[in-house]
Amino acid sequence: PKHPDGLKAELLEIALDAAHRAGVFLRDGRPDDLGVAATKSSAVDVVTEMDIASEKLITGLLAERRPHDGVLGEEGASVEGTSGVQWVIDPIDGTVNYLYGLPSWAVSIAVRVDGETVVGVVHAPVRGETYRAVLGEGAYVNDRPARVRPAPELGLALVGTGFGYRAERRAKQADVLRELIPQVRDIRRGGSAAIDLCDVAVGRLDAYYERGLNPWDYAAGDLIAREAGALTGGRPTEPLSPDLTIAAPPGLFEALQARLDELGAWHD
Ligand code: IPD
Ligand code: CA
Ligand code: CA
Ligand code: CA
Repeated sequence: PKHPDGLKAELLEIALDAAHRAGVFLRDGRPDDLGVAATKSSAVDVVTEMDIASEKLITGLLAERRPHDGVLGEEGASVEGTSGVQWVIDPIDGTVNYLYGLPSWAVSIAVRVDGETVVGVVHAPVRGETYRAVLGEGAYVNDRPARVRPAPELGLALVGTGFGYRAERRAKQADVLRELIPQVRDIRRGGSAAIDLCDVAVGRLDAYYERGLNPWDYAAGDLIAREAGALTGGRPTEPLSPDLTIAAPPGLFEALQARLDELGAWHD
């Protein structure tokens, strides 16, 4: 086989271990007076000392157990690697939720082999849920199989989305939403793209879309959603990408993708 089972099992075990260790650190170690350590693309695009420490914890563990692998992390981790294996890490997805003490945040870890995602783990400690998937082997939430909900028509779909941190992009995202809200059941903005994708995987959302994500936001959740029966993609005929990320069961996926296409949801 292209990806030997032994390798995938080893990568899954390490991803789960790293995500759980980071999860304990983040949940039990969250300072009561947690503040913003720095801002990034805008004043509301924040990073806390815990984002940085979580990424260090995960990359330290990987350096010990998989020293030849590549690493890409949101908070700056960047290792080329020589093994063909790459770890794509979001040390806290949902930083604003974490900062405010809201429960929906997660550690997201994906593993790519020769560019293809083969393992995805999204661990949400306060929700008490760990989502995982191995390419071709299905998706699980806390050891129960994860399965998308049967597709409703677009007009009855509960649709998750999110907004980027830059004001100009948000204005465009609001324009798209203004058109979409009257045409769906309702909208949810959970605050963690990784959890949103997992919510599609377990049928807590019918669909999810967002403009402007980064690979660390979607890599793990994308595999989990697909292994749970969702289609994922971007603009029509395009794979999902930072331009546009869509996940929904077959039938609904095509309808939402076509509607977002009409609304020009991928340009600023
Ligand atoms: C953000 C979250 C949010 C999404 C943003 C992401 P972060 O990631 O996933 O739900 O709307 O686009 O940047 O900054 O909390 O890791
Ligand atoms: Ca961030
Ligand atoms: Ca993120
Ligand atoms: Ca993050």
